[in-house]
Amino acid sequence: MANEPLKPLTVKSFGKDFAWGVAIAAAQNEGAYNEGGRGLSIWDAYARRQGTIRGGGKPFVACDFYHRYKEDLLLTKALGFNSFRFSISWSRVLPDGSGRPNKDGLRYYHDVIDECLRLGLEPFVTIYHWDLPLALQKEGGWTSFKMMRWFPRFVTLCAEEFGDKVKNWIVLNEPAAFTALGYMLGRHAPGLTGLDNFFPAVHNAVLAQSQGGRILRDLVPNARIGTTFSCSEVVPYTNRTEDVQAAARVDILLNRLFVEPALGKGYPSESFRLIERLELYNKSWKYTERMPFQFDYIGLQNYFPVVVRFNRLIPMVQASEVKPYYRRVPRTAMGWEINGDGLANILRRFWKYGAVKEIMVTENGAAFKDAVVGGRVRDEERIAFFKEYLRAVQKVREEGVNVTGYFVWTLTDNFEWSEGYKARFGLVYLDHATQLRTIKDSGYWFRDFLSPA
Ligand code: FCB
Repeated sequence: MANEPLKPLTVKSFGKDFAWGVAIAAAQNEGAYNEGGRGLSIWDAYARRQGTIRGGGKPFVACDFYHRYKEDLLLTKALGFNSFRFSISWSRVLPDGSGRPNKDGLRYYHDVIDECLRLGLEPFVTIYHWDLPLALQKEGGWTSFKMMRWFPRFVTLCAEEFGDKVKNWIVLNEPAAFTALGYMLGRHAPGLTGLDNFFPAVHNAVLAQSQGGRILRDLVPNARIGTTFSCSEVVPYTNRTEDVQAAARVDILLNRLFVEPALGKGYPSESFRLIERLELYNKSWKYTERMPFQFDYIGLQNYFPVVVRFNRLIPMVQASEVKPYYRRVPRTAMGWEINGDGLANILRRFWKYGAVKEIMVTENGAAFKDAVVGGRVRDEERIAFFKEYLRAVQKVREEGVNVTGYFVWTLTDNFEWSEGYKARFGLVYLDHATQLRTIKDSGYWFRDFLSPA
């Protein structure tokens, strides 16, 4: 972006119907893990295992959003946002995953939704944001074809309970991330590894995403149904054929594996015999005709581009990442490259599928080493990050890409999965010992940006 004349970034250019939101997730924010009849999730169990979470943090209290949702929704409103994205904890509404619903859990989400509506915040509800009920993992979790019974039950319950108040739905959060990290690399809950787990989890998640869409379509009048995809522009390290081909393989896994079946294109079939492997490893390989669903919008979640090169030692993809650190590019506290062009290119690329009518950026944000000094958090780097990435969105909109919303990840510093509480992504600083919330300068920046005088 650096070489182009920069147009001024203005909220007006996004139009008055643009959804400006913050995004959170149940497992990362709610806490209250054993209150109100909630059952355990895979993250409660995984975090208890030695060495799984940096710093040993547990999601048991998190931001205490369960008790403090009113304060946090008010903060969201005060910072100028008009939309609020949150997820439903499956084990709070169905403690065993599939049996009897928990009235207290349902009541809680009614309260959160009612409070959103009272404040004029449009609720965007994510059905599944990674916190599978532990009871279901004991029967195989995402690797089990029983998911085709469990997941519809959960979606149906959500649709029937909340469908008259909630119109914006997101079926899955980043299936590529939770299947790869949780069922192949063992770096997220439930901590499983290997292709035997990965491929069945992929296929069941692909079927669940469209099935969830169909259930919402049937049960919720006037619903706007979306689902989210993690995505990163994949750039070959050199233009040598082996690097270019390695980048194409990584691109399949990072960007194409879940969206293409939903769009009716089937699984990406070139390179490394992906389909054959899916079939081979999948006892439950069937129902491929059920993979497509016409989503009203797709949610793209982008943080950084990746640069890859050929590496024959890595099974299957034969590629490895050239980390930002080695490339000496600007990066966040998590070592992620800061590059708004990556977001612009990803938006253009998904738009080119043609079948996509509307895109929302359902997550974008950055972690930096924040500190409260004299009651203030001066996070200039985060402000610069948002300016750069928002300019990218503004630019592609001018080119005709129909981006209709942007959600900041995230409102308050929260439980960042295996990074624990060390990674701070919030617009609001959270003192984890006292639960005190301090609006960062980036939060004030959004307030001023979204509500120009
Ligand atoms: C995304 C997740 C979200 C959060 C951000 C930083 O991959 O969907 O929950 O952890 O990354």
